[in-house]
Amino acid sequence: MAITININGKNETVDAAAGTPLLWVLRDHLKMTGTKFGCGVAQCGACTVHLDGEPTRSCSIPHDALDGAKVTTIEGKEGKAAQAIRDAWVDLNVPQCGYCQSGQIMSAVALLESNPTPTDQDIYDAMSGNLCRCATYMTIRRAIKQASTRL
Ligand code: FES
Ligand code: FES
Repeated sequence: MAITININGKNETVDAAAGTPLLWVLRDHLKMTGTKFGCGVAQCGACTVHLDGEPTRSCSIPHDALDGAKVTTIEGKEGKAAQAIRDAWVDLNVPQCGYCQSGQIMSAVALLESNPTPTDQDIYDAMSGNLCRCATYMTIRRAIKQASTRL
C-alpha cells in the first residue's frame, strides 16, 4: 500500500512491501544514498536520520509506521546547528573513510539543536550509539565543541 512520508520537506509517496525499513525506502526507492547501512540492527548509528526532529535509526523502523511523519536526512538537514557542524567537520578534517560520518553528523546536529552548549559527558551520551571503525571519536568531540561556540 502506498503511503506518504514527508522527507526533507517534500511529500514522497512510497509503495514498498509492508515492513520495509525506512533506510531501504530512502536508499533503494528514493535513491537517497547519503544515509548509510552499517549493521541493520540499530547498533552502529550509520543510518541515523531525524524523525520529527529526533535522531532515529532508519534501519530499524518500518516505513509504513511513518504515514504523515517528518523525516530529515543528511541531504536535507539545514539550520544553524547543521551549518556549524558542517563547518567544524571541514575545519577539523573529521572523516577518515567517511562511512559512519553522515550518521555521526545527524546525531551531532540533533545534540546541538537540543543542547547548544554540551559538556563532554553530554557529547559522550548523545554520540555513544554512533560507532566509527576509524576511531574518529576524539576529533568528533572537538568538532562538536567548536560548532557549539558558533551557535
Ligand atoms: S545500520 Fe542502522 S544502526 Fe547500524
Ligand atoms: S570515518 Fe571510517 S568508520 Fe568512521
